[in-house]
Amino acid sequence: MKSPLNSPHLLTSYLKRYWYLYVVAIMFITIANITQSYFPKVLGDFTDHLQQRNITESAIVRYSLLLLFIGVFYGVLFGFGQYMVMRLGRQFEFFTRRRLFRHFTTLSENYYSKHGVGELLSYVMNDVTSVRESISQGINHTTNAVILIISVIVMMSISSIPFYLILISIAPLLAIPWVVVFFGPRIRNRSKKVQEALAKMTESAEEQFGGIRVTKKFAVEEIMRNRFGQTVDRIRDNQLQLVRISSLFQALLPFLGALSLIVTIVLGGYLTIRQHITLGNFVSLTLYLRMIVNPLQQIGNVINTMQRSRASLERINNLLAVKPDIRDAEQAKPLDLSSAGIRIRNLTFSYPDSNKEALRDINIDVPPGKTLGIIGKTGSGKTTLVKLLLRIYDPPEGTVLIGGQDIREVTLESLRSQIAYVPQDGFLFSTTIRDNIAFYNRASEMSAVETAAKQAQIYDNVIEFPDQFETKLGERGITLSGGQRQRTSLARGFIKNAPILILDDSVSAVDAVTETKIIENVRLVRKDKTTIIIAHRISALKHADEIIVLDEGRIVQRGTHQQLLAEDGLYASLYSIQEEGTRYAEGK
Ligand SMILES: Nc1ncnc2c1ncn2[C@@H]1O[C@H](COP(=O)(O)OP(=O)(O)O)[C@@H](O)[C@H]1O
Ligand SMILES: [Mg+2]
Repeated sequence: MKSPLNSPHLLTSYLKRYWYLYVVAIMFITIANITQSYFPKVLGDFTDHLQQRNITESAIVRYSLLLLFIGVFYGVLFGFGQYMVMRLGRQFEFFTRRRLFRHFTTLSENYYSKHGVGELLSYVMNDVTSVRESISQGINHTTNAVILIISVIVMMSISSIPFYLILISIAPLLAIPWVVVFFGPRIRNRSKKVQEALAKMTESAEEQFGGIRVTKKFAVEEIMRNRFGQTVDRIRDNQLQLVRISSLFQALLPFLGALSLIVTIVLGGYLTIRQHITLGNFVSLTLYLRMIVNPLQQIGNVINTMQRSRASLERINNLLAVKPDIRDAEQAKPLDLSSAGIRIRNLTFSYPDSNKEALRDINIDVPPGKTLGIIGKTGSGKTTLVKLLLRIYDPPEGTVLIGGQDIREVTLESLRSQIAYVPQDGFLFSTTIRDNIAFYNRASEMSAVETAAKQAQIYDNVIEFPDQFETKLGERGITLSGGQRQRTSLARGFIKNAPILILDDSVSAVDAVTETKIIENVRLVRKDKTTIIIAHRISALKHADEIIVLDEGRIVQRGTHQQLLAEDGLYASLYSIQEEGTRYAEGK
């Protein structure tokens, strides 16, 4: 069965799922409005009796009880119908946000590098809300208005008010649809601009909050304020334009209502003194007309909101239609990596939209269970290589193989679930240390969490925190130092106990003594498992079975630590610099 979450068009798929609830809600609103349309008739009859002075006191009580009943009945039914529609609207919001978040998780890094977080957040917040408002309001008001107008027209027609009087009085109101058709598209255009400007502002605000520490450090607050000010000015201009045109639109509608009332008073008043119609007829006619002015205005407003949210709906649908550029191939197979080696053949790679080669002619073999070390300057392509292994970017066909299988033919799930990747600046969530470590499997035993923490040399720190492993991190908790953060994400990598472990400069912020201990642990726990260690410091990878020296995307040297030391090259010179540093630090 196809889940509505997957079907292509957002609104239709939502309505398909909940249509029956809408039908019930609409029924409530309908009955409420039919009831309400009796109101002028009751009042008209009452006026006629009053005028003929043949009304008893008990009849007055009866009339007022009838009106009370109409009022209460209308209130309860309408309130309930409206509540249902509003609730459904909120549900739509939830449904859509969940669907958007699910979609976000499928999009690639490449997509995120092109679309700012602010822009995407604005889809989730502003656009979804705007669509929700328009369906809630749209259904509420449209049902309300249409039913009320129809029942009022029916009630007027079966009364003894002459038909031509009804027609002439209503005539000015019939211009309303035309006004709406004229203004609608213009309003929509302006509104699109406002939405876009708002997205820019959210984006800019995001960036400012994110960069606030840097801003403070470099005392560029003035420049940042100005930049933000310009964004806000643009929004204000766009919004003013929108307000101007929609105010004109909103003003025209009541004006037409007033015009119709004037016609009624003139013609109806004349017919009443000529006794062509009763005073009761006149009273109920004016009440009827007053009653449909609002609904007609509402129809205008609904079209207005719909126009506005159509832009939002379009944006959401377009976003949902974005196909993830990295996804499983048609014939993708899951792969067991537990005894798989890695083979890279003639790999040359440039990032999309970049004409510079980030990697060139890379050939690497990591037999199962072996350790590969990668060393090289910043920007030499080390992380790029890892991203290709994880298919964060797709390598060219046939260049990267795991277990003899082109990774482009392997399911993403099996690839990513069996590789543990510890980046240099692993992201920690604002939750407990335990949950951060047990990130891949929240159900992990506490003992497993502790073991991983010990292996990553963070255990001793954690037990000194107030709540130990239950200590919260982030905005409402403690802040870890750079080294502690790295070791926490290392523990996260260890606990996964994956067939392949990749440490990407994961010990760069850790002191030399702790680093040595961590590397000893890595050697111990990864004894027969494939491991890739990327590091700046030779001490972190000198034990590797093979070490590769990367420079500007090329492999310039390769071999074991001893072999590389014997060569006259980058590796040996790096080694002597680092050794000197160590000797200096130790005061030798
Ligand atoms: N998303 C990206 N888009 C374009 N170029 C990138 C991207 N990420 C990295 N690069 C470039 O690729 C090269 C290698 O970067 P990287 O693999 O991160 O180096 P390292 O990890 O060795 O420091 C650098 O020149 C860098 O500017
Ligand atoms: Mg890197």
